Formats: sequence, C-alpha cells, structure tokens
Amino acid sequence: MPDGVKGNMARVLIIYDTRYGSTKTIAEWIAEGAASIGHVAVAVQNVAEADPRDFDFIVIGSPIYEEHPLPSVVNFLAANRDHLNDKDVALFVVCVDYGEVPKEELVQRYVADLQARAAGRVRAIEVFGGYLDVNKLSDTDRNLIEDFAKLMGIPITQVNKLDKQSARKFGAQVAHFLEQP
Ligand SMILES: Cc1cc2nc3c(=O)[nH]c(=O)nc-3n(C[C@H](O)[C@H](O)[C@H](O)COP(=O)(O)O)c2cc1C
Repeated sequence: MPDGVKGNMARVLIIYDTRYGSTKTIAEWIAEGAASIGHVAVAVQNVAEADPRDFDFIVIGSPIYEEHPLPSVVNFLAANRDHLNDKDVALFVVCVDYGEVPKEELVQRYVADLQARAAGRVRAIEVFGGYLDVNKLSDTDRNLIEDFAKLMGIPITQVNKLDKQSARKFGAQVAHFLEQP
C-alpha cells in the first residue's frame, strides 16, 4: 500500500506522458480535483515509472502529436492489460484542436487508439485543451508546426487552451465514481 494511505481509502493513480509539460500540469490538476473530494488517496506518475498494481482507479492521459497519442501511453495500456482488467479506468487526451471541433469528434479521432487497448471498465473519457509555444519546441516539432501553419495559411506562434477548472472537475468526477461502485 502506498505511504500515507489509510486502509479504507480508494486509491487513484493518474498516469501521463508529456513532451513539454502541459499534460503533466493537467494530470496534477486532475489529482487536485480528485483529492478535493476527500475520501481518496491520489498519486501522479509518469508513464515510464508507473505501476498500476496498488491502485483501484487508473486515469491515463496523453498529449496528441500528429493526430495520435504518444506511443508510450498506448504501449503502457497494451502491456498492462492483465493489471488493468479488474480496475476502473478513465482516459484523457490533451490537444490544441480542442474548441475548434465538436468534442465527440475529437474523442473519436484522438482517443480511439487508447480505447482500443484499454482493458478494464472505462468509466470516463475527456479531451482537454493544450498549450503550444513554437519558440519552445524542438527543431523537429517546430518544423512540423511551421509546415502545418503554412499549409493552413495561418500563423501559429502560441496557443494556450489550458483550463484548470475543467481538469479539476474531471478529477472530482473520477473520485465520485469511487463512491458509487
Ligand atoms: C509537432 C506537434 C504536433 C501536434 N499535433 C497535434 C494534432 O495533431 N492535433 C492537435 O490537436 N494538437 C496537436 N499538437 C498540440 C499538442 O497536442 C499540444 O501542444 C499539447 O498541449 C502538448 O502536450 P505536452 O506539453 O504535454 O507535450 C501538436 C503539437 C506539436 C508540437
């Protein structure tokens, strides 16, 4: 049992991967929202070090790059099917298309790779707005974004769609599921 967890508390693990930090920030906001409900113990782990075995509810999320979640997150779901199949699961993605396209369409487009590999009972799916600052990207990522911007005929320098409230709300929703099995 993780340190500081009382025997009767439900345990929630939020797993993420990130290139530039925004998905980690959202994972931490989700954790705050879940912890605000009071009866749950919450942990946040990078996918590279995550171990779902001691937890009851797994929330797992990825940023979207070139229309797909990161392979690390997709592979984690595939590799941990045996550890996830008796647990509740929630999936989320982070992307800058948020708000431009109806959410149902973004779920179909961007969450499908995760859904296809998620064992366990998928209780919730969410799409969050992301953050992009062209000046902070690696050369490879900046070139991709600049090519895309040229193709679309629009300048892209910075996009900030991060929303703490919606992430906290999702975390609270997850914690509420643990009250109503
Ligand atoms: C090279 C590149 C490709 C991207 N591709 C997409 C995409 O296909 N769809 C989308 O909505 N957002 C796309 N994004 C935006 C990212 O999903 C967004 O910046 C996200 O917040 C990054 O998360 P991170 O900071 O956790 O890595 C892309 C960003 C970069 C740099």
